[in-house]
Amino acid sequence: MEVDLRKANEIFHDYESELYDSKWGILFDEKNAQRVKKKFEKLLGAPFPRVEKLLEVGCGTGYVGLNLCLNDGLVGNLYACDISEGMVEACCSNASKLGIKVEAKKSELESLAYPDNEFDMVIGHAILHHIPDIRKAFEEILRVLRPGGICMLAGEPTRTGDFLGRIARRSTLEVLKLYTRLGGRFGGKKARLREEGTSDSPQSETKELETLVDIHTFKPREVAKIAIAAGFEDVRYECEELLSAFVGWITRTIDNSLSEENLTVAWRFWCYNTYVKLSKLDERIYAYLPSELFYNMLLYMEKPE
Ligand SMILES: C[S@@+](CC[C@H](N)C(=O)[O-])C[C@H]1O[C@@H](n2cnc3c(N)ncnc32)[C@H](O)[C@@H]1O
Repeated sequence: MEVDLRKANEIFHDYESELYDSKWGILFDEKNAQRVKKKFEKLLGAPFPRVEKLLEVGCGTGYVGLNLCLNDGLVGNLYACDISEGMVEACCSNASKLGIKVEAKKSELESLAYPDNEFDMVIGHAILHHIPDIRKAFEEILRVLRPGGICMLAGEPTRTGDFLGRIARRSTLEVLKLYTRLGGRFGGKKARLREEGTSDSPQSETKELETLVDIHTFKPREVAKIAIAAGFEDVRYECEELLSAFVGWITRTIDNSLSEENLTVAWRFWCYNTYVKLSKLDERIYAYLPSELFYNMLLYMEKPE
């Protein structure tokens, strides 16, 4: 049976949009504004420049675009688009709470509803792995960028990173099943797994969609070749998050599997602090390990002058 992967993405992310920020711990504040800026600076190898016209593709709730705007004077005008109407609405709602002006609309990455040569920079976070035809997406980004404009994509799973993530998820689930059967405690209460098909558990159709919409994992070198074939120049990549991603998958599996009553504020606080500490450790060990071992790929591409 042929599956329309674009439609699957639209339906799944519409469903996810309302609770997306709390599910992924997305925040818009000083710390995250700095974190997002630093993420792109790692790729730029230089301070983030002021950008007059910035487009965030696959904006979701606006994680990278809105956080960049929280850095004083960095962004002139922010534009954002997503295939999911629900996500576009969530992005606009976050922007209005933060007092940020954004022109957001529903638009697909493979056929962007913007004129040629329009933007100084295009950014995206965790979008490329949802796109069926990556070459087409690159050609569209190239079209809407002005000559000399740059595109930076971050948060894309590498093949090795994804493999480690699967191990973390599967083994955590098995341990949790055993632990709850043995009557273990979590968050001061008897540990209980969420029951399938109740309001405490995500709908099973949505779970199925989730496995469909994660289309790719990447070998960074191969993606760079596709970008060059699409017409970009000065294409390069970096990777990030190894221990933080591994532990992150364990804690997220616990979050998604245990009942709400087991998940205390102290637990969520511990998860966040541990993630931040391990991210710093990852930065230190990055120079000593093959970059493709790390979970997230960041890609830099420049449109020829
Ligand atoms: C994993 S979410 C990431 C959202 C946001 N960038 C973030 O980092 O929080 C992927 C986003 O890409 C969007 N998306 C998926 N396929 C798309 C497409 N073909 N064109 C535009 N957006 C798409 C989804 O609707 C979703 O909002």
